[in-house]
Parts: sequence; structure tokens; C-alpha cells
Amino acid sequence: MRFVPPSTIAIDGPAGSGKTVIGLWLAAHLGYAFLDTGVLYRAVALDALEANLDVHDGELLAARARAIPLRISPPDEADRPRGYSAYLGDHRITDSLFEPRVNSVVSIVAAHRSVREALLPLQRGLGERGRVVMVGRDVTTTVLPHADLKLYLDASIERRARRRWDQERAHGSTRDVNSIAADLADRDQRDSGRDASPLRVATDAIRIQTDDLDLEEEKRLIVELLESRR
Ligand code: DC
Repeated sequence: MRFVPPSTIAIDGPAGSGKTVIGLWLAAHLGYAFLDTGVLYRAVALDALEANLDVHDGELLAARARAIPLRISPPDEADRPRGYSAYLGDHRITDSLFEPRVNSVVSIVAAHRSVREALLPLQRGLGERGRVVMVGRDVTTTVLPHADLKLYLDASIERRARRRWDQERAHGSTRDVNSIAADLADRDQRDSGRDASPLRVATDAIRIQTDDLDLEEEKRLIVELLESRR
């Protein structure tokens, strides 16, 4: 019998758990579309900063989010390592999305229920088309509750901080590993502690603890998992 992989794949997990790397790889492996839903919240945060808006005003941000001219496309040359390019109108914003000023307000933006609701149709629309890998914090629980395969990637804070430190060093950052760990702990608290769609392990998600796995082992495990579900 021909192997038919799951059509909608949802991956959640805390910051730094490797969801994006794994999600991008899995989408390429299966020939599926990929969406990092964090990019949507980051784009709304960036738009608010550029327009000098109050990031605590959920209704205003939701109205902007509903009309945001965001486009996510296969990567330009400069964005190849990220795996996609993001545009706001005509401006390429892929790098700006990850600036410290965005990092420092995005969890406030993402905590507004109104903003989350405004971004749902876009995410669900892509989900309904199928052949998609979507990653985030509430994809398995809220965005695609009927996804064909749900994964929850997890790792200790020490391991996640170490991975981020390695990535940041490769980009020339000198931030030390303890400050990265403190930052991740803060984000865990905000992502899991908010009222609207907090980060949770869905009851039907497969949880993968990645502390003792390198990337190749993790990929192998996921391929085995896909094949065992045929
Ligand atoms: O994954 P990330 O660090 O790029 O996410 C940016 C922010 O958006 C972070 O505060 C968590 C939030 N987020 C969310 O609330 N729900 C999602 N589905 C994805 C991200």
C-alpha cells in the first residue's frame, strides 16, 4: 500500500524547542507548505511599533491585524537560512521580525484575545487547504484541533538556552547563556500563563523530549513516527 502521510501537521512547544527547524525540514521533506505562526504575532507587533501604537490596546491591534498586508513567500536569497521571506506591503521584514524591540513586546501583543481571534481565519484557511506543517504555541489546541498529526516538542530550559546561544553566537551575538535562559523562562511564563490560548500539551499530541537527541536523531524519530501511522 502506498504511504500517505498525515495532511495537516501541527507542532507546538516552548520557545527554543526547535519547532521551526523541525517544522521547516518536515514541510520540505513532505513537499508541504510551512507556516511559523509566531511570525504573524511578530508582524502585528512590528507594525504597531512602526506606527507608534499602544501595544496594550488589543482592539486597535486586532483591527490592524485583520487588515495587515503581510505576505509570506519562499525565501529570497538573503532569507535562505530562515526558510521563508516575510513582507509587510513592499518591505521585506524577515529580519526585523526578530529584532530585540519586537521580542520585547510580542508576548504582550500575543496575549490579546482579540488579536488572536483576528489571526485565526488566516491560519485556519491555510490549515483547511491541507498538506501543511504549522508550528506555534496553540496550533495543536486551538488553531487546528483536528490536525492529522500533533507533535509537542519539549526540552529543558538549559538545553534550549544552549541551543539559542549556539545560534546567536553564529550570528555574532555575545549574549551569555544565563541571560538567554532567563529570557526563555520569562517567555515560558508569559506563553503558558496567559488566559487566551495558553501553551498546553494537547491530550492527543505526541510529546517529544529532545534534550538527548541531536537534530538527525530527532528527524529519524519523526520519520519513524510518520511511517508507523500509515
Ligand atoms: O515562536 P516565536 O518566538 O516566534 O513567537 C513569538 C510570540 O508569539 C511569542 O510571544 C509566542 C507567541 N505565539 C503565540 O502566542 N501563539 C502562536 N501560535 C505562536 C506564537
